[in-house]
Amino acid sequence: MRVLGIETSCDETAVAIVEAPAGNGPVANLPKGRILANVVYSQLTEHRRFGGVVPEIAARAHLERLDGLVTEALAEAGLGLADLDGIAATGGPGLIGGVLVGVMTAKALAFAHDKPFLAINHLEGHALSVRLTEDVAFPYLLLLASGGHCQLLTVRGPGDFTRLGTTIDDAAGECFDKTAKLLGLGFPGGPAVERAAVGGDPQRFVLPRPMWRKPGCDFSFSGLKTAVRQTIEKLPPDDPGAIADLCASFQRTVGDVLADRCANALALAPSPTLVVAGGVAANVYLRGRLETLAAAHGARLVAPPIKLCTDNGAMIAWAGVERLRLGLTDGLDFRPRPRWPLDPALDPAAAGTAVRV
Ligand code: KG4
Ligand code: ZN
Repeated sequence: MRVLGIETSCDETAVAIVEAPAGNGPVANLPKGRILANVVYSQLTEHRRFGGVVPEIAARAHLERLDGLVTEALAEAGLGLADLDGIAATGGPGLIGGVLVGVMTAKALAFAHDKPFLAINHLEGHALSVRLTEDVAFPYLLLLASGGHCQLLTVRGPGDFTRLGTTIDDAAGECFDKTAKLLGLGFPGGPAVERAAVGGDPQRFVLPRPMWRKPGCDFSFSGLKTAVRQTIEKLPPDDPGAIADLCASFQRTVGDVLADRCANALALAPSPTLVVAGGVAANVYLRGRLETLAAAHGARLVAPPIKLCTDNGAMIAWAGVERLRLGLTDGLDFRPRPRWPLDPALDPAAAGTAVRV
């Protein structure tokens, strides 16, 4: 089966086509997929001078680029729309202008070519993406850390999640972005901080580790963000190594917090597999920390390849494959959702008290 996936929930206009055996067996044991095309237009240059993503600029850029990217992806895969088995698009959560562009495009393609439409929760895209390239069976424990989210979840299958904890304030990626901004390292901040940390002394600055050693699986990053700002204000001007030392110390602190929270999750909901996904999972140092932590708990850490950690169309196409295998398609009356929790128990819409958007 071949599914086209569209991602437009933030500042990346992305389209991919993924192929996978259809199979009727138990979903946990079905084989992985193959990426036939994966094209991304990053709007970085359009947002850079504002130091963050401007929703209106993002929505317009998606509108201008998306049709061309769909054509490009089909050409890269050597396929026509008739060769596809489904059209998937991020249906939320995210910046609603962009989500609307992706959903309307996908619905139009699905309607015109009589293909199933699949509205994908962006977080489910991240959550399942590891299974596109790695042999990982359900259930698994997932640390989902991106620019907007930081959560620990048990993943049993598409639409079948239990959230063990979440951030009570900022997301981990947001904290990286803020640190980079304060240090003038650029945007997005994660890769910039990671690069700047190379060769730095991770022990030099002692920063707070919010939630560390507290029970449960929740996160908090706002105190760390404030401490980084205060430290930067006091940095000696004639110390060329200070930025590298601060970035390395910051990364170590985030690593301490993530490892501590994951340790609690592994104790509460034991799993042979710990998966890390979302943009922050692209950080090689943090991947290393989580690998050590998993091994200490007799588990293995599995992460998507680095380039599939940040937003992309392949993860949306793959979630489409997983849903299509189960017959979980969506109607053309699907409404894009700016908010959309993964855990059905936390979703007012799933509980019957629908929030109109
Ligand atoms: O998953 P993603 O592409 O978009 C959202 O759904 O939010 O994640 C983007 C976030 C940004 O905050 C970015 O700074 C962070 O992931 N990020 C990283 C790295 N690459 C991206 N954080 C730490 N280290 C990285 N190498
Ligand atoms: Zn994302």
